[in-house]
Amino acid sequence: MMCFLSCVWKGLNFLTMRNAEVDIFDAMQSCVQTDWVFKETLRLYSPLSSLPRRTLETVEIQGFTILPNTSITLVPRFVHHISSIYSETHRFDPERFSPTRSEDQVHRCAWVPFGKGAHACIGMHFARMEVFVFFSRLLERYRIQKTDGSLRLDYVPVLKPRKSIPIRLVAH
Ligand code: HEM
Repeated sequence: MMCFLSCVWKGLNFLTMRNAEVDIFDAMQSCVQTDWVFKETLRLYSPLSSLPRRTLETVEIQGFTILPNTSITLVPRFVHHISSIYSETHRFDPERFSPTRSEDQVHRCAWVPFGKGAHACIGMHFARMEVFVFFSRLLERYRIQKTDGSLRLDYVPVLKPRKSIPIRLVAH
């Protein structure tokens, strides 16, 4: 984890340059490992619990027939823990997104924190940029230390810590 945080920081270092000439979107292309961390965090902690859909036509899925006009729900957290897609599904393992493993490429809907299809999130790239910029500013000033205590989550209406996150920020 510490190793990954330092990779995240190295990758994001340049974003702290207060330089109007830096094109953040272009610069983010080189934050490869940071991107794996971003994806792995959203795999384990997808903010939206369910995505409602309605079938337009009859669909056969694994022996089940779903008739037209049926309400169905896609649950990202379930998809992200399918063991035929992701190894050690509960483990925080950003390298599963590396080119050598590419676990999320097994199926086009293997990684769906932003949904999929016509109504997929239009803010995905903006959200990614916000996260990168936020962490570049945070890690520039602070180290993150884990404290005692466990993380308890509320899943509805969107994922959030029930009380607090068991970490301490220590100024550099
Ligand atoms: C980590 C941050 C975010 C997550 C995890 C997220 C997730 C999602 C998901 C899962 C959907 C699809 C809902 C569905 O299929 O039923 C969605 C749709 C949408 N998101 Fe996001 N979102 C994020 C940030 C943002 C931001 C920053 C914006 C705008 C600046 C945004 C704007 C939208 C809009 C407008 C839709 C509806 C698209 C449509 O129905 O055509 N989202 N988002």
